[in-house]
Amino acid sequence: MGKLDNKTAIVTGGTSGIGKSIVEHFLNEGAHVICVGRDKSKVYDLLSNEDYDGRLDFFVADISEEEDISKLEAYIKTNYSYLDILVNCAGIWHTHRLEDVTYDEFELMFRTNTASVIFMTKAFMPMLKKTGGNIVNVSSIGGLERHIAGRSQYLYAASKAAVIQFSQLCALNYADDVRVNCICPGPTDTPIYLNRDFSWVKDQIPMGRLGKASDAAKVAVFLCSDDADYITGSIVTVDGGASLK
Ligand SMILES: NC(=O)c1ccc[n+]([C@@H]2O[C@H](COP(=O)([O-])OP(=O)(O)OC[C@H]3O[C@@H](n4cnc5c(N)ncnc54)[C@H](OP(=O)(O)O)[C@@H]3O)[C@@H](O)[C@H]2O)c1
Repeated sequence: MGKLDNKTAIVTGGTSGIGKSIVEHFLNEGAHVICVGRDKSKVYDLLSNEDYDGRLDFFVADISEEEDISKLEAYIKTNYSYLDILVNCAGIWHTHRLEDVTYDEFELMFRTNTASVIFMTKAFMPMLKKTGGNIVNVSSIGGLERHIAGRSQYLYAASKAAVIQFSQLCALNYADDVRVNCICPGPTDTPIYLNRDFSWVKDQIPMGRLGKASDAAKVAVFLCSDDADYITGSIVTVDGGASLK
């Protein structure tokens, strides 16, 4: 028996890194998953896995576009009678010097990392209320009040801090019906890092290793399962202690 048997879940950013690991863990726990992304070919390995027995669906969407979120909403309402879980994981990470920050970069970062979380939540909250479902938003330790992110993460850190506040407000306002929690990964080995020099890890991560995508995925399974049925509004760091520094 899986921890997510008979649950239907949407996962954004499911084509890569942490999101793809969440999709895989959810499937292994029995869920039916609608993976949302721009490039279906990145999950052909999962789509062709017979163990998943038709429980993986893919919807092509750019989650920074309002129109694509509306199309996804219409697709889910037409094809699924209920929804239990929404995981907002899609995100981008760019760094800039302050003098290089532009409105275009600001818009790209906030539309992708922040607006997508807000408008996906707005679109699917009514369905989640009906099932007593839950939401997991993937922020970052860069968005935590207690931790100062890398010095050139002006836009990224601000976009992720907004996700934390938004999550807590939703948790409070929808506490009767829908649990809302937030995962804050620390540095995690995924394609988001184009520079593969990780020599800084030993200095910055007390536990001495980079995170794996599965570290955050296992927490997402827990938060979305009935084992976490009294947990809402939590901000869970998955960072080997990195945010303590
Ligand atoms: N890795 C880390 O160290 C780390 C640390 C803290 C927080 N996080 C957060 O964890 C989340 C996942 O990151 P990751 O490390 O797994 O990165 P990743 O491997 O680069 O994956 C990012 C995912 O987001 C999707 N995405 C980006 N922009 C999109 C858009 N406009 N529309 C639809 N999908 C879009 C990507 O889809 P495509 O394949 O279509 O590009 C991809 O599936 C992000 O929110 C990130 O900020 C990561």
